[in-house]
Order: sequence, then C-alpha cells, then structure tokens
Amino acid sequence: MQHFFLKLLVPALLIQSLYAAEKYDSKTFRVITKECGMCHGTPFYFAKQKDEDGWMEYFEEDQTLVKVHQKDPKALKSVQGKRFRYYREDILKFFIDNSKYSGVVHGCDANFCGTHH
Ligand code: HEC
Repeated sequence: MQHFFLKLLVPALLIQSLYAAEKYDSKTFRVITKECGMCHGTPFYFAKQKDEDGWMEYFEEDQTLVKVHQKDPKALKSVQGKRFRYYREDILKFFIDNSKYSGVVHGCDANFCGTHH
C-alpha cells in the first residue's frame, strides 16, 4: 500500500497541483505586462476593458494596433516589436479569455493580487 502511494499517488497529486496553479497563461501575462502594462495597467484590468468582439477587431488586421498608437513611438516599439508579433495569437487569446463578459475573477498568485491598476 505504501509503495502504491509513493509510486502513483504522489506524482498524480503533484501534477494536479501544477495544473491548478496554472489557471491562466502566465507566460503571456508576463509578455503583456512587459509590452503594454506601463501604459494600459495590469493584463487582467486591460483585458476587461473590451468584450470579445472588441478584442477581435483590434487584432483582425496587423495595422490596426499600429494605427492606434501612431503618435506614440514607445507604444509603436511594443506593437511592432518581435515579442509582440511572436505572441500575438496568445495575447489575443488571453484578452478574450479575460474580457469584459468572461466572468473571470482572479485571486492572488505570484504575478497578480487582485489589484485593478
Ligand atoms: C507607451 C504607451 C503604450 C504602450 C506601450 C501600449 N499602448 Fe496601447 N495605447 C496607448 C495610448 C496612449 C492609447 C490611446 C490612443 C488614443 O486613443 O489616441 C492606446 C490605445 C490602445 C488601444 C485602443 C483602445 C483603448 O483601449 O483605448 C488598444 C486596443 C491598445 N492600445 C492596445 C495595446 C496593446 C495590445 C499594447 C501592447 C502590445 C499596447 N497597447 C501598448 C499607449 C500605449
């Protein structure tokens, strides 16, 4: 019995706790924090400002976000940067998953603690 516990149950519990900790895409969370956060606030706060359709519109064409930030060289560096282009689909998915009517509310974790700015 003890043997069974160690061999099967412990790894199963460990794996489960890993998944539980990863309730959202924390890698993309960090990318958004870095690329957009200094102007738009935390990724969850930012995501909530639009509904799913709103986010789709901004990401439909490559040029839309460039146009929106036309007068802001710092922002252009973000939305035209390599990291943004690489994570573009993940970023859109993050915004949609956490958008206005998604009903998602986050508690505290290592990245985030329920603040709204
Ligand atoms: C250096 C500051 C800065 C950075 C960095 C920045 N933005 Fe913006 N963004 C702005 C400003 C300022 C506006 C408002 C432009 C206007 O309305 O004239 C804006 C507007 C927007 C809008 C239009 C709708 C709205 O909320 O007003 C979207 C969508 C947007 N940004 C997405 C992003 C995303 C996604 C990133 C990161 C990849 C990003 N921005 C990075 C400054 C920034």
